[in-house]
Amino acid sequence: MVGDRFFRHIDSACWDPEVRLPEMDRNGVELQVISATPVLFAYDRPAEHALECAKLFNDAALELCARGKGRLKSLCQVPLQDIDASSQELSRCMRAGHLGVQIGNHVGEKNLDDPGIVTFLHHCADEGAAVLVHPWDMFGQSRMPKYMMPWTVGMPAETQLGIVALILSGAFDKLPQNLRICFAHGGGSFVFLLGRLQNAWEHHPVARGDCDQPPRQYLNRFYVDSAVFDARALQFLVETMGAERVMLGSDYPFPLGEHGIGSLIRSSRLSSAEKGFLLGGNAEKFLGLRSESVPAGTPEPARPMEPRSDQLTYSSYLRVSELLQLQHPQSKPQHHDELLFIIVHQTYELWFKELLHDLDGVVASLRAAAANPQSRDHVYEAARLLRRCTEITRVLVEQFTILETMLPTHFLAFRGKLEPASGFQSEQFRELEFLCGLKDEKMLRYHRPTPEAYAQLERRLREPSVHDAFFDALRAMGKLNIPQGATERERLDARARAVLSLYRDEQSYRDWIDVCERLTEFDELVVSWRLRHIQLVERIIGMRMGTGGSAGSSYLKLTLDKKFFPELWEARTLLTE
Ligand code: HEM
Repeated sequence: MVGDRFFRHIDSACWDPEVRLPEMDRNGVELQVISATPVLFAYDRPAEHALECAKLFNDAALELCARGKGRLKSLCQVPLQDIDASSQELSRCMRAGHLGVQIGNHVGEKNLDDPGIVTFLHHCADEGAAVLVHPWDMFGQSRMPKYMMPWTVGMPAETQLGIVALILSGAFDKLPQNLRICFAHGGGSFVFLLGRLQNAWEHHPVARGDCDQPPRQYLNRFYVDSAVFDARALQFLVETMGAERVMLGSDYPFPLGEHGIGSLIRSSRLSSAEKGFLLGGNAEKFLGLRSESVPAGTPEPARPMEPRSDQLTYSSYLRVSELLQLQHPQSKPQHHDELLFIIVHQTYELWFKELLHDLDGVVASLRAAAANPQSRDHVYEAARLLRRCTEITRVLVEQFTILETMLPTHFLAFRGKLEPASGFQSEQFRELEFLCGLKDEKMLRYHRPTPEAYAQLERRLREPSVHDAFFDALRAMGKLNIPQGATERERLDARARAVLSLYRDEQSYRDWIDVCERLTEFDELVVSWRLRHIQLVERIIGMRMGTGGSAGSSYLKLTLDKKFFPELWEARTLLTE
């Protein structure tokens, strides 16, 4: 009863660990965090009553946990209408063994950005207390008398209001980074309407509030639970917040909780690493729990450095959660091998990115060498970076073998979903060709559907290639002099002879010869890549046409004659003359 009004039927699961623990076993739940329900906050009562109430529930919760065989932990409650009393009760509770506090998203007319509440949140951070914000005392109730609308409509909006208040007021800018705060029910309607908030922030000065950054920048300041009851909503929530910010919320044992706790996460399309974050890893971090499941006798590992939450971690630096969300198989039901197909291509693209980065460095070094023909430093640097490019390309040649573990029949099972996506559209592969000197404007046509890629490739067409930079440097050294009006063949011949002159004076040009050898090796490895790709294609689709519309293997064979630096090969012929 709330006063003399019926509120909810409850049963002994609320207070009896003998009932709770077997249910946890049935649901595969190892550890549960309990808290009193928000109707018991008593924020609308005199503060001393609310404090008395809080103490009763807080101590009762610890008694319940004591009978929970180590599998129950608790969050306390505080009389939030009185900040000093709240801070003192929180400190008492943290000393007594609570892991944090559950608060409502407002106290009467005061939202979470109220200076007193912000002071309390500061105190929570100082105490290392996890804060769970639960919506309560929903607005507009006179218009929602029926159908549990205060829960289904009011609560999500209340929660959104709590988050927006903390962001726009600038409270997050003032609060310490180590504050661990979580909003219930997936953050209510916040995530779905974040775009609207961001748009208002960008275009309407009055909507900006007092925060330093646009709203999206604050998503790493809070957690949300996973209680959204819809697979696509969960996917969206994780994509928006990041897999390190969402954790299983059960609402157990109340009627709007998940039946089959954790089943939404377990049956989702998230990766197993992400599921691990949502099903426990994030909660451990949020609650400040260490792993307690180390078997007795296990040697103590070296004491890890505990990063503060404002410091970089392995995952935040490498954006692991974002990276793991970038695989979207098209087959339905998902074919087992499609993930491999996606990941192999993605790793190629990542290495292409590194190759472009290093080859840009090679161009810069060669141009610097051309500007200072006496200095050897830039020549060494070019050779050093080229060595990296050859090592990467060696790995790229090898990597096809992983894809060859896929049976042709298995590829055919999802190939139909790919059309017209094709390697033809690999912008970075074409960029690599252009950057090395193979500038074939015709290939631009495959990039018309993506204007940014098209513009980037046009830029590469205009800019000096590795080939240009290399021969410009030889010209600056006085090794290359092409007469006006020379034919293409004569030009190539002159360049080959310039290379030859380096090899013939090994004593003086060891460093340049090293550059030549690296460039030759790179050329050779790219041809090996083309060949291995053709072998893969024939092994998987035989002589069929490609999804990009080419004749397939017979088209690809024509590309085997492509060389970035034909002069380096020609010089060898001249040498043996
Ligand atoms: C099942 C595996 C694969 C098959 C069956 C396949 C098939 C083909 C075919 C038939 C083409 C010719 C263009 C077309 O008509 O689509 C092509 C081009 C291409 N593929 Fe693949 N491919 C596979 C895997 C890969 C992988 C792992 C990469 C790595 C990035 C890759 C990169 C490329 C590139 C860059 C081209 C353009 C080559 C050029 O124009 O010189 N392919 N592929």
